[in-house]
Amino acid sequence: MEASAMESSALELCITDFKSEAKDIVVLELQHPQKRPLSPFTAGSHLEVYLPNGCIRHYSLLNCPSETHRYVIAVGLVADGRGGSLNIHQTLRVGSVLKVSAPRNNFLLVDAPAYCFIAGGIGITPILSMIRWCIAHGKKWRLFYSVRNKQRTGFYEELQQLADANVHFHFNDEQDGRHLDIHQVIASLSLDEHLYCCGPEALMQSVKNAAGHLPAQHVHFEWFSAPASVSTAAQSGSFTVKLKRANQEIQVMADQSILDALEEAGMDLPFSCRAGICRTCEVTVCSGTPEHLDMILSDEEKAADNTMLICVSRAQSSVIELDL
Ligand code: FES
Repeated sequence: MEASAMESSALELCITDFKSEAKDIVVLELQHPQKRPLSPFTAGSHLEVYLPNGCIRHYSLLNCPSETHRYVIAVGLVADGRGGSLNIHQTLRVGSVLKVSAPRNNFLLVDAPAYCFIAGGIGITPILSMIRWCIAHGKKWRLFYSVRNKQRTGFYEELQQLADANVHFHFNDEQDGRHLDIHQVIASLSLDEHLYCCGPEALMQSVKNAAGHLPAQHVHFEWFSAPASVSTAAQSGSFTVKLKRANQEIQVMADQSILDALEEAGMDLPFSCRAGICRTCEVTVCSGTPEHLDMILSDEEKAADNTMLICVSRAQSSVIELDL
């Protein structure tokens, strides 16, 4: 059973619509039980969802940020996953109550003259909200949407109706299994166009590699989970954590995270994703050198070494002192 320090302040919303959108994708509309207005959100925001089976998952809001009467999320079924999506697909229906956090945004749509979106599979959800915002504000945008096949393409009809000329679908099965040509997309970017990407790890890594020469502030990613390389790196030896305020030293073993070790020592610290993608567990580094393994701090923040995310990041130095 997972738990989060934020769950105690969660909202209880009612599922007012629950429908199948494409193969293995369901869409949930959430409203306040008394139809009260909800906290506003910005394009790219997500909700932390506390599921009946104890799992905590993050789902992007896909409706228009101007709407305050509802939150809409889509959930792709991960058959071999850890049980979060299966719990939603199998147990929730219209009328069920779902506990969620207020919206948070780690994938901000910065003000830019033009946007190029690359989405893979269920990664279309935050992008949809961004597209709706672009349309409402008369912004220039285009979308490259890569999916295994048409059957699994969420929001296919809606995207066609929204602005067909701006939308480029890529179905692997119609291209002899070939993937979207990321290099071609990157080469077509104009100088002032910002690139936003959300999708499976392989797609994200291809885009990250192909866009390496672009200014970092023009390229934006939303990771579903930390890449496999992060979990591998996280097995890299033991070290000592000094807790400045608690005046205590704790050993972190090779097979545990700093967060695990501190919890084992009886500390109660805030966390959410435990995967380096949400920033909830960020702590200030007083001395020592972190080994940043998260997917959310910017390159500048990582170079500054002022803070670290203790659910995944480790220490390069044998001792690291934290402001705890
Ligand atoms: S708990 Fe999400 S980044 Fe650490």
